[in-house]
Amino acid sequence: MNKVALITGGTKGIGKAVAECLAQAGYDLILTYSSDTRTAETVAADFHRRYGKQIRLLQADITQASSIDRIAQFLSEQNIRLNTLIFNAGITCRDAFENIAFADWERVFFANVHFPVFLLQRIIGRIQAGGSVIFTGSLMGIEPHSVSLSYGVTKSAVHALVKNLVKFLEPYQLRVNAVAPGFVDTEWQKNKPAEIRRNIENKIAVKRFCDPDELASVYKMLIENNYFNGEIVVVSGGYAYK
Ligand SMILES: NC(=O)c1ccc[n+]([C@@H]2O[C@H](COP(=O)([O-])OP(=O)(O)OC[C@H]3O[C@@H](n4cnc5c(N)ncnc54)[C@H](OP(=O)(O)O)[C@@H]3O)[C@@H](O)[C@H]2O)c1
Repeated sequence: MNKVALITGGTKGIGKAVAECLAQAGYDLILTYSSDTRTAETVAADFHRRYGKQIRLLQADITQASSIDRIAQFLSEQNIRLNTLIFNAGITCRDAFENIAFADWERVFFANVHFPVFLLQRIIGRIQAGGSVIFTGSLMGIEPHSVSLSYGVTKSAVHALVKNLVKFLEPYQLRVNAVAPGFVDTEWQKNKPAEIRRNIENKIAVKRFCDPDELASVYKMLIENNYFNGEIVVVSGGYAYK
C-alpha cells in the first residue's frame, strides 16, 4: 500500500515543494487549498504525470470551521488512512497594533491554532501508528518582529502546541514536529517591495531567501527520522534581526 500524506496549503509555495518532494518519494497526496482551483488542478495534474502518484485535491479554507468537517468527511468517505499530516497553511494580519480588530485577531488565531487542533482531534484515528504530524511554524514565532502581532503570537503558539502535543500523541504512536522557516521565496514574500526584500536579505547570513525546495527536504527528514519528536527546526539561513 502506498503511503499517504495530507498537506494543508499544498498547492503553492512551501506546501507545494513539500508535496513534490513526497510524491517523488512515493507518497499519494491529499492537497488542500483555499480558492485558486485552477492552480491546484494544474499542480495535481503535473505531479500525477511526473510521479505517477494519486493526487487528490480538496478546497478547505482554514478560516472556516466547516472545513474541519469537510476534510474529516472526505477522509472518511474515501476511507483514507494517513501516514503523514502536515499543517502548513497559515494566515496573517498586518494591521498596526492600534487598528487591530477583534474579529481579525480571532480569525488569525482560528486559522493558525484552533483549526489544526480541532482537525487533528477529528482525524487522529485515521493516522497510522508510526506516522507523524508536522506543523509549519515560523522564525517570527521565535524572534518577535514589528509587522504582525497576531502572526508572531500564533506561530509561537504553534511551537508550544507541538511541544505540548508530544505526550498526547504518544499513545497513538505518532510523533509531532515543526519546521520554523525564516524567509522563503514564495508568493507570500515575492509580493514585498524590492527595498524591503533587500533589507531582509542583509539580515540573513547567507544573503538570500530560502528556496522552497531547500525546506522540503527538512520536512522529509522529519517524517523519516523516528527520533525527531517535539522539535522546532529553525531554517533561517542564519537570520539575525539586528
Ligand atoms: N514564505 C515565508 O517566508 C514563510 C516563512 C515562515 C513561515 N511561513 C509559513 O509557511 C506557510 C505557507 O506559506 P507560503 O509562503 O508557502 O504561502 P503561499 O506560497 O502563499 O501558499 C499558500 C498555500 O496555502 C493556501 N492557503 C492560503 N490561505 C489559505 C486558507 N485561508 N485556507 C486554506 N489554504 C490556504 C493557498 O491556497 P490558494 O492558492 O487557493 O489561496 C496555497 O496552497 C504558512 O503557514 C506561513 O505562515 C512562510
